[in-house]
Amino acid sequence: MIHNNSNESMLKKNAEFIVQQGKGILAADESPSSIVKRFQSIGVENTAEQRRIYRQILFTTPNIQQYISGIIMHEETFNQSNDSSISFPMMLTQSGILPGIKLDRGLESLTINTNETITLGFDDLEKRCEDFFTRGARFAKWRCVLRINQTKNQPTQVAILNNAIILARYASICQAKGLVPIIEPEVIPDGDHDIYTCQYVTEKVLAAAFTALSDYNVYLEGCLLKPNMITPGHEAKKKVKSSDIALATITTLSRTCPAALAGIVFLSGGQSEEDATMNLNEMNKLIYQQKCPWVLTFSFGRALQASALKAWGGKRENESNAQHSFLKRAIANSSASRGEYDG
Ligand code: 13P
Repeated sequence: MIHNNSNESMLKKNAEFIVQQGKGILAADESPSSIVKRFQSIGVENTAEQRRIYRQILFTTPNIQQYISGIIMHEETFNQSNDSSISFPMMLTQSGILPGIKLDRGLESLTINTNETITLGFDDLEKRCEDFFTRGARFAKWRCVLRINQTKNQPTQVAILNNAIILARYASICQAKGLVPIIEPEVIPDGDHDIYTCQYVTEKVLAAAFTALSDYNVYLEGCLLKPNMITPGHEAKKKVKSSDIALATITTLSRTCPAALAGIVFLSGGQSEEDATMNLNEMNKLIYQQKCPWVLTFSFGRALQASALKAWGGKRENESNAQHSFLKRAIANSSASRGEYDG
């Protein structure tokens, strides 16, 4: 069947805008409940107003649009405004940044008595896509979670297949409504597994995801993948070098991702800011020697925000320090997306 989506040229244009050279995404879509830990770490009360102030600091960082092409927001943030009552999506559009929306609504158990999950969010999804598009969103994110547990043989094939189908169904609905879908099948780094196990599992997860995208006729030129990098589990004894992570990640992607895909935007998955930047940089240094038809850039949450959050500490007088810290990480990751970061 031939693709027949009248939105194709817009989808391709917006996806290419996001992965234009030297730019990437800020993932600022923590839910009100998931940001609580981060606010606690700096002693800030987790209120809607504090969340608004924090996002405003990030979004109004001077010159940030030279390095950040898109920002993903939670629905709450999408509905908030800056101090001059201009809505965040409108403000970002005016400053040359594409507004994005997190569309999934969290996880639920795949079956009874398992810690494997599927992702919720299909209720009124078409309507929500239309509504967010009308209010300025041009791309969307949906996260699925796969956990490695070698004694239980997890992730199971059932978890891999169900999550692949969920991502493909979400992506096809987004594209029909004009939003570039980011599909995020995250293989979680919890555990003591080695880098080879992460690679093996991620290859299976990505292969299943792209099969499902094909089954659902998703237009790959207007779609982005947000994968984990290939690393050992956080509790693994043997640590590996950035160059090993880079090679394993590129090998995994080249075995599974079609060349037509618009681009690849990595999550940082709890890596330190510096590690995430170094790993992205190593990949982009390698890309010329390997079979890589896609742009490899960032869609980091914690690895773009950790030092900014700390510098802010909830105090008005620290806002420009926080912006300085955020800009520094954005510049570093922009360099890494070109393979030009030197620490
Ligand atoms: P991290 O970069 O902190 O992993 O967050 C990215 C993200 O969007 C997770 O869904």
